Amino acid sequence: VLNKLLYISRATPLAHAGASEIDRILSAARIRNESLQVTGALISTQDNFAQILEGPQDALDQLMESIERDPRHTEVRTLLRQDNVLRTFEGWHMAYEGSSLFIARHIRVLTACFQAPNEIHVTRLMDLMASLAGRQSNAVGSD
Ligand SMILES: Cc1cc2nc3c(=O)[nH]c(=O)nc-3n(C[C@H](O)[C@H](O)[C@H](O)COP(=O)(O)O)c2cc1C
Repeated sequence: VLNKLLYISRATPLAHAGASEIDRILSAARIRNESLQVTGALISTQDNFAQILEGPQDALDQLMESIERDPRHTEVRTLLRQDNVLRTFEGWHMAYEGSSLFIARHIRVLTACFQAPNEIHVTRLMDLMASLAGRQSNAVGSD
């Protein structure tokens, strides 16, 4: 069974310590994700990350353990978990989109709501990340 999750986090200065820090994250991620049969997408802005991971539950648990203790970001917040889904990012062991003000705004609206994340905004971010990879998200709900 394939599971999927979406989280957002806040980048620490370590994430931008060197010009190639993101490249380092990505190349390590692509190797490990391939071996774990995990695919997904990562968005990075000056202040935040948003990442979708899809794969077997065990693999996602294992990855999230590493990711949550990574000092390059903090406040890792899982917004959505889906069981039994199809891959949106088939073939992408980690699709990547760098910073843009447009994307930054979509993440910021989710960091602003400390109670329950607004489902429409969660879905919008999922769809945005899927469209960046040129695919249709299978997330439920829309506005
Ligand atoms: C925003 C962000 C996203 C990451 N995504 C992945 C990922 O998809 N796959 C991965 O193996 N590591 C990813 N990493 C790196 C992990 O946090 C970790 O450094 C790496 O998996 C090595 O794990 P370990 O520290 O348990 O040895 C990410 C790190 C950050 C800061």
